[in-house]
Amino acid sequence: MSAKEPSALNAFERQVEWIMFRFRWIFVILFLLPASLIFDSYHFVRNYFIYKLQSAPRAHGRKVARIKRQVREWNESGKKTKMCTARSGWSTMSFRFPLYKKNMTQINTDQLVDILEIDEKALTVRVEPMVTMGQITRFLLPLGYTLPIVPELDDLTVGGMINGCGVEASGRKYGMFQHICVAYELVMADGSLVTAKKFKNPSTQEETDMHTLFFGIPWSHGTLGFLVSATLRIIPCRPFVKLTYYPTKTLEEMEATLREEAENRENEFVEGLLFSKDRGVVMRGRFSDGPIDNTGKINSIGRWYKKWFYTHVEDLTKTGKVHTEFIPLREYYHRHSKSIFWELKEIVPFGNNVVFRWLLGWMCPPKISLLKLTTPPTLRKLYDRKHVLQDMLVPLDRLNETINVFHKEVEVYPIWLCPFNQPSCPGMVRQRSGKSIMYVDVGVYGITEKKKIMTHTKGFQMMYADTYMTRSEFWEMFDSSIYDWLRTKYQCTQAFPDVYDKVCKAARY
Ligand SMILES: Cc1cc2nc3c(=O)[nH]c(=O)nc-3n(C[C@H](O)[C@H](O)[C@H](O)COP(=O)(O)OP(=O)(O)OC[C@H]3O[C@@H](n4cnc5c(N)ncnc54)[C@H](O)[C@@H]3O)c2cc1C
Ligand SMILES: *[C@@H]1O[C@H](CO)[C@@H](O)[C@H](O)[C@H]1NC(C)=O
Ligand SMILES: *[C@@H]1O[C@H](CO)[C@@H](O)[C@H](O)[C@H]1NC(C)=O
Ligand SMILES: *[C@@H]1O[C@H](CO)[C@@H](O)[C@H](O)[C@H]1NC(C)=O
Repeated sequence: MSAKEPSALNAFERQVEWIMFRFRWIFVILFLLPASLIFDSYHFVRNYFIYKLQSAPRAHGRKVARIKRQVREWNESGKKTKMCTARSGWSTMSFRFPLYKKNMTQINTDQLVDILEIDEKALTVRVEPMVTMGQITRFLLPLGYTLPIVPELDDLTVGGMINGCGVEASGRKYGMFQHICVAYELVMADGSLVTAKKFKNPSTQEETDMHTLFFGIPWSHGTLGFLVSATLRIIPCRPFVKLTYYPTKTLEEMEATLREEAENRENEFVEGLLFSKDRGVVMRGRFSDGPIDNTGKINSIGRWYKKWFYTHVEDLTKTGKVHTEFIPLREYYHRHSKSIFWELKEIVPFGNNVVFRWLLGWMCPPKISLLKLTTPPTLRKLYDRKHVLQDMLVPLDRLNETINVFHKEVEVYPIWLCPFNQPSCPGMVRQRSGKSIMYVDVGVYGITEKKKIMTHTKGFQMMYADTYMTRSEFWEMFDSSIYDWLRTKYQCTQAFPDVYDKVCKAARY
């Protein structure tokens, strides 16, 4: 456990900070929203033509060759510094900026933005790591397929989900994002290109190594090699999700309902929202062809004039009644995008106002990357003191304990609850029980007046957020055995920083 003291500010700084905080929305509306729209439109048009011309697979070879060449040049120039990707700090989804990049040899992987091929026989899709979730659903859903797991925000990348981690409401069935992966293509520290994948019965040394590497990549944050493509499973889907909302009145009821729905094999999606320590909602979703049996109405929650999803959920369940409706699949997947979960209310306080939604809602949300790029340092200090952004992954039977800790220490609501199945497998996550265990992601995002004290209850933490752990606490949380073996075997220790040195407090600001 460690505490963080608010940094001292003088009176003038406080005033400037306050004014910027209060009036930031003017800048957001006049500049950020239009800029975000232009940015997204450009990518939409670009991806359309790349797909039409089918040029992505051919270009992939050239892009990989360029990365290999950069790694070879690093070797030949005497390995003076360690390597990392050249992706600029503001463009990632984590609210933090990396400091560690400055002193490193930056390998440019930014062009790896394309979907390469879909294999309808094997039910897989091969993509480059900078492909985003929004891009994948736009491509796959019209073909009648989806990824089994689609983490909610449009701009989350495949590379980030694999080298870090990714969860979503279908995790109760499929696990984490890494568990829907079939193979990783990587450029290693010696400039070679390898394919790490799972083997049922590895028969040669080479196969055993690739099998081990496959399990070593998740959570390694790019400290074993550069990911250049990933093969992901796909499943057939249907155009709607039939979503049923169950209000809960106590924390015990929440835990019990969440468990019951998460363990029900007929459900595809299960998530919970807590609006206060006691009051919450469990939502369970199933694929559907629409309201053919008159059990509910279609609600296109993704349209620009619709309420932010979490407020819709809260309003729907105020009466305490169970409610069912049909949501178009893509709008369901990106239900938390428009309001960036509930982060947008701190940035555009009236963003959920009905007039604003009708007039300007079609430009929301602003891109997180552009928000980061344009946040002045004084304002960042303010956010730093008051903002909590934490995802704790804990066994479901520790939910009560975890919520009580968060309630005592930060008291930020809503809280996102996303159950997922953690299989017993090798890797950085310690779960070797021999069977799958139901975990839950407890996501706490928002502004708090309470002092930020981060405690870790038994479980593990997503590393994109603020971590105040010491090196030994970190390696107590995660298992280093395979990781260390791979680092030695593939000469990573000279080539990449240790994962702790990328995610610790000192490495980011
Ligand atoms: C508001 C908010 C909401 C969120 N919601 C969700 C959610 O719903 N579900 C969820 O799972 N997560 C969520 N996250 C967390 C998310 O998992 C992290 O932000 C994560 O870091 C993904 O960001 P990114 O795609 O920009 O990847 P990055 O931050 O760029 O990458 C993550 C790590 O992987 C490494 N990496 C990336 N690409 C490569 C590559 N090609 N080769 C080698 N290394 C690479 C990077 O160096 C970095 O260390 C949320 C975060 C925020 C801020
Ligand atoms: C790395 O560089 C050294 C000398 O600079 C060279 O001998 C070696 O073959 C290079 N390794 C690779 C994998 O290119
Ligand atoms: C970064 O590089 C500078 C100059 O080369 C060096 O003095 C400094 O120690 C380096 N910092 C780290 C953290 O390696
Ligand atoms: C939940 O946790 C609180 C505090 O940690 C404890 O007092 C309470 O008895 C727990 N409830 C259940 C049902 O375990």
